[in-house]
Amino acid sequence: MNVLCLLGSPRKNGNSATLARRFCETARGLGAEVSEVFLNGLDFRGCQACFSCKGKTEACALNDGLSPVLKAVAECDVLVMATPVYYGELSSQLKAFVDRTFSFLVPDYPYVPDKTRLAAGKTAVLVIAQGHPREDLFADIFPRYQYFFEHMLGFERMRLIRACGVYGLGDAEKDARSLALAGQTAREVLSKA
Ligand SMILES: Cc1cc2nc3c(=O)[nH]c(=O)nc-3n(C[C@H](O)[C@H](O)[C@H](O)COP(=O)(O)O)c2cc1C
Repeated sequence: MNVLCLLGSPRKNGNSATLARRFCETARGLGAEVSEVFLNGLDFRGCQACFSCKGKTEACALNDGLSPVLKAVAECDVLVMATPVYYGELSSQLKAFVDRTFSFLVPDYPYVPDKTRLAAGKTAVLVIAQGHPREDLFADIFPRYQYFFEHMLGFERMRLIRACGVYGLGDAEKDARSLALAGQTAREVLSKA
């Protein structure tokens, strides 16, 4: 299996990266091929709403640092997206990537059941690190993106790895429960459980 891991925090070794890497290490141990992309290190823009991908071209018309990443998404089996919670949302780095996945939707996507250009059978994993310890806060993030990845982009399923109450650098390394969840999720995804 081919795992593509997008790190959406500007902190390369931050909490979301720690949990995403635990998922990836476990997956690698089970035979997966893993590649990691640090989104904050790329030069790219968000969707420009040019709608080329809904007419002239099959792919995103922008040619920038995200172009090879979008290509890799089309080729992967498992897409891991790691993000801190910023003002109750994804980081802007990861959100800009998500907006560019608009290019995976077919031109008549609002009107047809099969809306995606992506191959069937992919799994998405959202890794969320939030400073606030209350689990009810920002719990809306996952279901909102699960809707888009499963019902629009055609991912077979989307899983969540979430740590609450991790704030400073290194906090996730001390969070045994979230690290265990990352490992367990990798085992389930790799075995397609
Ligand atoms: C700009 C900014 C906004 C933040 N907004 C929130 C927030 O809305 N809710 C929250 O619980 N934590 C918030 N935090 C804290 C981060 O979510 C927390 O430090 C997290 O562990 C960062 O993950 P990272 O280490 O992967 O970057 C914010 C931090 C920053 C820098």
